Amino acid sequence: MKAIVVTGGTRGIGFEIARLFATRPMNAEAVVLTGTDPARLADAAAAIQAEILDQRISNVSRVIPVLSDLSRAQAYDAFFDTLAALDVEVEMLVNNAGFTAPGPIETVTDDDFARTLQVNLISPVLLVREAMRRGHGLRIVVNIASTAGMNGRANWITYSASKAGMIAASEAMREELAGKGIDVVLLSPGRCATDLRRTLAPDEDPSTIMQPAEVASALHFLCSNAGAVLRKQNLVLRR
Ligand SMILES: NC(=O)c1ccc[n+]([C@@H]2O[C@H](COP(=O)([O-])OP(=O)(O)OC[C@H]3O[C@@H](n4cnc5c(N)ncnc54)[C@H](OP(=O)(O)O)[C@@H]3O)[C@@H](O)[C@H]2O)c1
Repeated sequence: MKAIVVTGGTRGIGFEIARLFATRPMNAEAVVLTGTDPARLADAAAAIQAEILDQRISNVSRVIPVLSDLSRAQAYDAFFDTLAALDVEVEMLVNNAGFTAPGPIETVTDDDFARTLQVNLISPVLLVREAMRRGHGLRIVVNIASTAGMNGRANWITYSASKAGMIAASEAMREELAGKGIDVVLLSPGRCATDLRRTLAPDEDPSTIMQPAEVASALHFLCSNAGAVLRKQNLVLRR
């Protein structure tokens, strides 16, 4: 069964992407969403499945939750073993899961720095590697970077570094995979109203900034035939 995989699909931008691609399906027959919190993951999958049933949408028949902590180096193999057991072929991979622990440089811990790089930079590359090694018919890889990776921000040193790495890795990936017929879509959203944003900017009013559904809509267009001409660049999304 051909599927779209959205890492970090339990809330925020990832949830809206999973929801939109399930309810306005392209080619895939299933949407796989991942997360680390069992209850949140089950609730997110159930909400999307209910929406599909409500709207009597037939292309995407299944919403599949897979528990996977991408901060763990062993996660990648186990994740693809689970997909194999479910007979899932990854057609589109959305590397969305993100972590941040902001603070002045004196307060940065080794563990938080390592986790930030693992979730935001290393896991996207290794998930693509695993998909390629296992012969999945990937057509599109979506990497969610950030404007914070284009301009470093005070007190966000680990997050900015991880996202700058994601931008460079995506550009390398795009060049390398073009010859294999795989498009790499690189999105750099600006401020977007989610839990992660609240961690970075606790005093901001979320109603004044971009909403997760707006990022999902832009991505849906980019992944359509009409959006193909926009896929060769780092696309900044901001209000
Ligand atoms: N919000 C913004 O302003 C903004 C701007 C630019 C870029 N971005 C990027 O957009 C992406 C989505 O962020 P968001 O703002 O939507 O954040 P969010 O609402 O906080 O959601 C983060 C998602 O990542 C998952 N996640 C966190 N740690 C994980 C781990 N160790 N393994 C697997 N999944 C993990 C979470 O799953 P669980 O809850 O199950 O752990 C959750 O689904 C991130 O890459 C972020 O850096 C956000």
